[in-house]
Amino acid sequence: MPADTRQAASTKGASGQGSPGPDVPVIECRGLVKAYGDSTILRGIDLRIERGLTHVIVGGSGAGKTVLLRQLIALERPTSGAVLVDGQDITNLGDVALNQLRRKFGMVFQGAALFDSMSVMDNVAFPLREHTRLSAKEIRRRVLEKLEILGLTGADKKFPAELSGGMRKRVGVARALMLEPAILIYDEPTTGLDPVSSRNVDDIILEMRDRFGITSVVITHDMATLFRVAERASMLYKGRIVLTGTPSELLDSSNDVVRHFLRASGVRPEALQELASE
Ligand SMILES: Nc1ncnc2c1ncn2[C@@H]1O[C@H](COP(=O)(O)OP(=O)(O)O)[C@@H](O)[C@H]1O
Ligand SMILES: [Mg+2]
Repeated sequence: MPADTRQAASTKGASGQGSPGPDVPVIECRGLVKAYGDSTILRGIDLRIERGLTHVIVGGSGAGKTVLLRQLIALERPTSGAVLVDGQDITNLGDVALNQLRRKFGMVFQGAALFDSMSVMDNVAFPLREHTRLSAKEIRRRVLEKLEILGLTGADKKFPAELSGGMRKRVGVARALMLEPAILIYDEPTTGLDPVSSRNVDDIILEMRDRFGITSVVITHDMATLFRVAERASMLYKGRIVLTGTPSELLDSSNDVVRHFLRASGVRPEALQELASE
């Protein structure tokens, strides 16, 4: 049996096709280290992302948020430590198992990462055309359904350049949903958006959880987003998670890094607390 087939078979056995029980975290990092040459970016990350919750990872620019994300979805191999998805170590998977794994994730990239030369229809249809053998008619039906969910009815023939930043982001979410992922990962979803569009994107993050029971990992440096959407939050600083807790626990924390970050956000703690309880 070729190595890849063997891997895939053992993957199925170990993970039971993605329903490993409510207590197993959806994603877990154990002592995760990532270095590029001499420069160590992640210095031992311990993190548990619980099922069905929206977990925000916050940190300053250059803190290693995107690097962490690349390890979570196995785009890169960690230098040491482990990443478990549904209880399965993903750090040494073969190609077939990797493909199966990646279908658990929907990615909403920084910017929106749409194909500028393709219509909204073609952008959103892309994952289905790449990964399924559905008929053109069925693909079209599913795309229109997702566009409607995201308030984009009628936008299917438009091109990315004709859309506002907020709409582009929603197209990115629609595309990320196409393969019905269990986990949505957003990298800086509100960066570069005006406050109203940011708020709309935050609402969408919440709606995806409520409507589809999706686990969301939101990577951001935006404190308003954190307090609006998070049920759990982790602060990433100098390659380590310095605190994980509820937004309220973050606000009450005596950790210097957390306090400094909250102060630097310029938003009053009372205002953040209000966002959390809205
Ligand atoms: N492929 C790479 N090779 C070398 N250094 C990298 C690579 N990717 C990211 N880095 C470095 O890792 C650090 C964290 O980057 P990143 O995760 O993108 O930060 P952010 O928290 O803003 O998303 C930066 O100093 C960046 O230059
Ligand atoms: Mg980044």
